[in-house]
Amino acid sequence: MTILSTMWLMPLFTFIYVNGILPIEATHHVYRNLQSLSSDDSFKQPYRTAYHFQPPKNWINDPNGPLSYKGLYHLFYQYNPKGAVWGNIVWAHSVSTDLVNWTPLDPAIFPSQPSDINGCWSGSATILHGNKPAILYTGIDPMNHQVQNIAYPKNLSDPFLREWIKSPKNPLMEPTSENKINASSFRDPTSGWLGKDGNWRIIIGSKRNTRGIAILYKSKDFINWIKSKHPLHSAKGTGMWECPDFFPVLKIGRFGVDTSLNSDDVRHVLKVSLDDKKHDYYLIGTYNDEKDKFVPDKGFEEENIEQILRYDYGKYYASKTFFDDGKNRRILLGWVNESSSVADDIKKGWSGIHTIPRTIWLHKSGKQLIQWPVVEVEKLRVNPVKWPTKILKGGELFPINGVTAAQADVEISFEVNNIREAEVLDKWTDPQILCSQKGTSVKSGLGPFGLLVFASKGLQEFTSVFFRIFIYQQKNLVLFCSDQSRSSLNKDNDMTTYGTFIDVDILHEKLSLRSLIDHSVVESFGGEGKACITSRVYPTLAINDKALIYAFNNGTTNVKITRLSAWSMKKAQLNGNL
Ligand SMILES: *[C@@H]1O[C@H](CO)[C@@H](O)[C@H](O)[C@H]1NC(C)=O
Ligand SMILES: *[C@@H]1O[C@H](CO)[C@@H](O)[C@H](O)[C@H]1NC(C)=O
Ligand SMILES: *[C@@H]1O[C@H](CO)[C@@H](O)[C@H](O)[C@H]1NC(C)=O
Ligand SMILES: *[C@@H]1O[C@H](CO)[C@@H](O)[C@H](O)[C@H]1NC(C)=O
Repeated sequence: MTILSTMWLMPLFTFIYVNGILPIEATHHVYRNLQSLSSDDSFKQPYRTAYHFQPPKNWINDPNGPLSYKGLYHLFYQYNPKGAVWGNIVWAHSVSTDLVNWTPLDPAIFPSQPSDINGCWSGSATILHGNKPAILYTGIDPMNHQVQNIAYPKNLSDPFLREWIKSPKNPLMEPTSENKINASSFRDPTSGWLGKDGNWRIIIGSKRNTRGIAILYKSKDFINWIKSKHPLHSAKGTGMWECPDFFPVLKIGRFGVDTSLNSDDVRHVLKVSLDDKKHDYYLIGTYNDEKDKFVPDKGFEEENIEQILRYDYGKYYASKTFFDDGKNRRILLGWVNESSSVADDIKKGWSGIHTIPRTIWLHKSGKQLIQWPVVEVEKLRVNPVKWPTKILKGGELFPINGVTAAQADVEISFEVNNIREAEVLDKWTDPQILCSQKGTSVKSGLGPFGLLVFASKGLQEFTSVFFRIFIYQQKNLVLFCSDQSRSSLNKDNDMTTYGTFIDVDILHEKLSLRSLIDHSVVESFGGEGKACITSRVYPTLAINDKALIYAFNNGTTNVKITRLSAWSMKKAQLNGNL
């Protein structure tokens, strides 16, 4: 209580006086007097994850500079070493051999020179010629300007890359009166890629007025950078572009390719984290490396923002990919923030997790990406439960017994017939609104059907992940929802319902759902990875061994479960978690 009443709460986009000198702009809520508060260790921890990445305590946000080097995966992340709210940000560092079990190392990058003395913000790694990693990151300088710095490993023989040295030439890129870059909107450099001219390129997120911009820089040596006259891409009305990511995907097949590859065999993806929307959006298109322009098939200008593709339609932000050359795949990592109150975060002593790393590739239609949890996470599966084909009648609810329901991996597939029973949708409606208006209680011809997770015995609490099928303009339209509105008796949490349409041809394809359930997170993949929804929930009754999972159908027409496979999940080794 005392904590709440003395809380110094700053809204978004305000200026905070640091060191009493100049304003710094923060895009996070800033609770200055809570940034170094230790937590109450006696507080029970039913919400800590068993296999989703998190450190033992404190605040985390963006994944930074993921890379693979000498057989180890390196993950850096934005971290407050002193408390459970944003502040004191350093690059924490963990390593892994499998992207599932993580060992913590000392922070790799922390404020130490003028060009980053007020903060070491997000950035990316690039593997330079001769297998030499380099990290570009945003530093906050003594004038609170956002500038770009470089750091190198001190000892390339050390596979753990424990120590990083900053270049005396930092900052390498900075806002000046000539380049007219806004000093508080210039951050998050990408990994570099090589053009056919042998020069490196990177982009940096920015904006001019409300136009979001991917500023392009080129360099021969990765040290001396020249800003290009034209950005790689920009779009009016989209606001600040944070954490841009730009990479090629093969037109055919699931393999990933090196970030520098450009040929007739690939398309390019530009992802931006829209600061105004707090979601990660991506465009698929063509990269013309002579003009250094990205031309999306469908851009922000042509579509309304609700129709631009997202990596995840739930809680998910500041993601980044890297090419895993050992396994020829592109891996996507993302941050999932809490839905609990700041007071609860301080009580539990931590805030923020990462999703399970996802392999991503282009769907054969060329119209969207597919995402699927890395295969290594399947090593945690134990005690499989399988069902024979089962008819789920309207109104029926079957418990999925035999798995640890608070720590599980569930895959279920449905077959629907009687398409004519589907509800007719007269006009296009925002899918998230459709999901929240109808929830699981409004019955329709086909749906809702899916999973109830984190369900308490009397269903006082449950989170539902489900489908509804509509007929829209004579075609089937599949809605995919994650409804948190009844997830907890604690109403201090954000219980927003999430949803999206999903491009599955139910006449010819099964409708599948996979949910990775982990104490306070439900990470769901619909249509074999065509759409993802990640949600955070904090049940008060359905915790640990009190949680249940059900398959349910609350529509009026039967659906057939053609596959159900569920597993209890073992604990991963997460940064020294007990
Ligand atoms: C560099 O790392 C290797 C491998 O860990 C180690 O044997 C060597 O002593 C290190 N060199 C220095 C100068 O620290
Ligand atoms: C620079 O960015 C800040 C932060 O978004 C904004 O408040 C300010 O108006 C911008 N300045 C200009 C000249 O666009
Ligand atoms: C984090 O969560 C809150 C509340 O659930 C939400 O309003 C906010 O936009 C989120 N921030 C980001 C960066 O995702
Ligand atoms: C199913 O629908 C009924 C009536 O509409 C409702 O009372 C019940 O809560 C629904 N079940 C679930 C799991 O939402």
